[in-house]
Amino acid sequence: MMNSPQEWPEPIVRVQSLSDSGVSSIPERYIKPPTERPSFCHVIGSERSVVPEAAAEAEGNIPVIDMSGLQSEDGLVRAETMRIVSESCREWGFFQVVNHGVSPQLMDRALQIWREFFHLPAQDKQLYANSPKTYEGYGSRLGIQKGAILDWSDYYFLHYLPLSLKDQNKWPHLPSNCREVIDEYGKEVVKLCERLLSVLSLNLGLKEEFLQNAFGGKEIGACMRVNFYPKCPQPELTLGLSSHSDPGGMTLLLPEHQVTGLQVRKANSWITVKPAPHAFIVNIGDQIQVLSNAMYKSVEHRVVVNSGKERISMAFFYNPKSDIPIEPAKELVTPDRPPLYLPMTFDQYRLFIRTRGPQGKSQVDSLKSPR
Ligand code: OGA
Ligand code: NI
Repeated sequence: MMNSPQEWPEPIVRVQSLSDSGVSSIPERYIKPPTERPSFCHVIGSERSVVPEAAAEAEGNIPVIDMSGLQSEDGLVRAETMRIVSESCREWGFFQVVNHGVSPQLMDRALQIWREFFHLPAQDKQLYANSPKTYEGYGSRLGIQKGAILDWSDYYFLHYLPLSLKDQNKWPHLPSNCREVIDEYGKEVVKLCERLLSVLSLNLGLKEEFLQNAFGGKEIGACMRVNFYPKCPQPELTLGLSSHSDPGGMTLLLPEHQVTGLQVRKANSWITVKPAPHAFIVNIGDQIQVLSNAMYKSVEHRVVVNSGKERISMAFFYNPKSDIPIEPAKELVTPDRPPLYLPMTFDQYRLFIRTRGPQGKSQVDSLKSPR
């Protein structure tokens, strides 16, 4: 196994400072190869049609699910809600939930806190500069390959659970109520994640507690990455976040809903997510793909940036306890459907992305059992 990387291979440049400096062209380090650039052009058959895969951007939106339907008096409404979740997990790997029980005011406050954090003077943020050892703190790259092409974003990464990893000294102390709000937000979002895992378990034909238990019961891991995408003078040449699938269990994303940017892969095209107000965007991570023996797919997504508006999003990653081997549920393995993956702990798994940066779905694919 690789060792944990200790330091960045090159000096860190804050994308926000580049953006604020008012440059009219982006440095070469952020220019993606043509096949990875966003296709602002929708017309297939134009010069962009030489791009081999996922070039087109298609209309549509990921399903929006009203979670209050799960508590309806009406059995048909409950069943229909379960069915839409199931279909979304199979067909999209992504859905939005509304009426999910987390207070809209708390969601607004959390986003506002982070907006304020990213607008603090550079030296205040620098106190929390991260290293690739744990990634906790204020960062501007993922992966440690020297000379890598970088994404147009800064971020803040912190551990929320388990308690042994939670270290509020590594959370910002400004704005003043930051730590409190993060704490409260985390508590609410964890509850929602527990509910969602029950729904997913039942939909897979497993016991309601199956996924939660497979994740380690009460000892799950949870961490948060707040993404900051500054305005970009040449958005057509770069990405805010390169195509990747989330390595963990399940992600609950809260983007600010006024600015789009997230794109989800659907067959050969990219669908731009239109966030509903106060919705969470839920997506299946690689660990649920493995546990479900690929009944549910962890789907590639990426972020495009724009020249007019910065964008913030908060990604809450709900993960298995890091040292339990994760493998396909025995109940989902049949003679027709042999186990597709070899067991691996999340600790081992995560080291790939932390070393190489986001690389589509190459990680979960590398886990495939050799048959
Ligand atoms: C992520 C992610 C999407 C976004 O943080 O893993 O996919 O819209 N974020 O910021
Ligand atoms: Ni992601």
